[in-house]
Amino acid sequence: MALKRIGILTGGGDCSGLNAVIRAITRSAIIQHDSTVIGIQGGFEGLIFNRSQVLSVKETRDILPQGGTILGTSNKGNPFQYREYDSTGNILINDYSERAIDTVRKLDLDCLFVIGGEGTLLIANRFYEMGLPIIGVPKTIDNDLEGTDYTFGYQTAVQVACDALDRLQTTGRSHQRVMILEVMGRHAGWIAMESGIAGGAHIILIPEIPYHFEKVIEKIRLRAEGGSRFSIIVVSEDAREINGESIKSAFAGQTLQGVDRLGGVGNYLANRLVKEIDLEVRCTVLGHIQRGGTPLAFDRVLGTRLGAFAVEAAAKGQFGNMVCLNTPDCQLLPFKELAGKVRTVPESSQLIKCAEDIGICLGR
Ligand code: F6P
Repeated sequence: MALKRIGILTGGGDCSGLNAVIRAITRSAIIQHDSTVIGIQGGFEGLIFNRSQVLSVKETRDILPQGGTILGTSNKGNPFQYREYDSTGNILINDYSERAIDTVRKLDLDCLFVIGGEGTLLIANRFYEMGLPIIGVPKTIDNDLEGTDYTFGYQTAVQVACDALDRLQTTGRSHQRVMILEVMGRHAGWIAMESGIAGGAHIILIPEIPYHFEKVIEKIRLRAEGGSRFSIIVVSEDAREINGESIKSAFAGQTLQGVDRLGGVGNYLANRLVKEIDLEVRCTVLGHIQRGGTPLAFDRVLGTRLGAFAVEAAAKGQFGNMVCLNTPDCQLLPFKELAGKVRTVPESSQLIKCAEDIGICLGR
């Protein structure tokens, strides 16, 4: 089908590699279909308030190495439940979905490409079911989306965490300290597992395997007795002690969508450890550093492949799908397959076994 005019929107939290997708969609649509490309600004809010810009090949020049998204994004602009304040400061929740649909119609888009994580793609599916021609491109540093081998942004986040661990190794060893690195990932421990293995961590704690505090202490003590009076711990933000709770961020406990923000487990663990062991403990919280900056080549290539494949799918009218990596190829998966699914690290996976085989303590 003709792709005379297409739109691109980035929604939810950002990650490295978004610009590679924007560039690939823009270039393939222009080069293969002579399309006019419209960039929607600031995620779904751009559709609600009709904020957009024309993208040409020129606008997407030099953006491959840039972190973030040239279009801007938002994780608080759900058009079906848009939160605003009235003049007296009360929160109002409005359904602006018809406004958003109206904008797509006014812009006369033959396809809207929505690049986002689970939340964004579920909103995209609702619009698709209401009749909009949409194709999704999955992104998240958490790598927790079903149906795709990897999400772009993930490898870069793992590398950032691995670089941090390399640095913590040297300072931890010099001072003979227990160094804790808290990483992101929400309910999935992928970033912690892979950065921990790559960065030589001695202990990795992930949400999928609730940890026994005594096992953590035992590992640190055994190492100290063996002459290594320092240890490196990677803890995923939603890691929990057996029968314990997630640690919620003390700062702004919830997002505007009412989702609890995680954070603080590293310091929680540090406070507990320091009472039990005869070593100094320090904690580093890596936070949004994992989301920003230059994408690795892997994420640029993945983003580019998904972007170009999404345009190919749009030209065939294959709306209502997201593009995925099923190595070695890209493929399509209906939005519906995503609903309510979080891909966590399987307890029985080779990754877990490999970590334990080489002596990494997972707290069990
Ligand atoms: O989903 C990506 C992610 O970076 C999570 O790993 C993290 O818990 C969350 O987003 C942080 O969100 P915010 O940008 O709202 O602080």
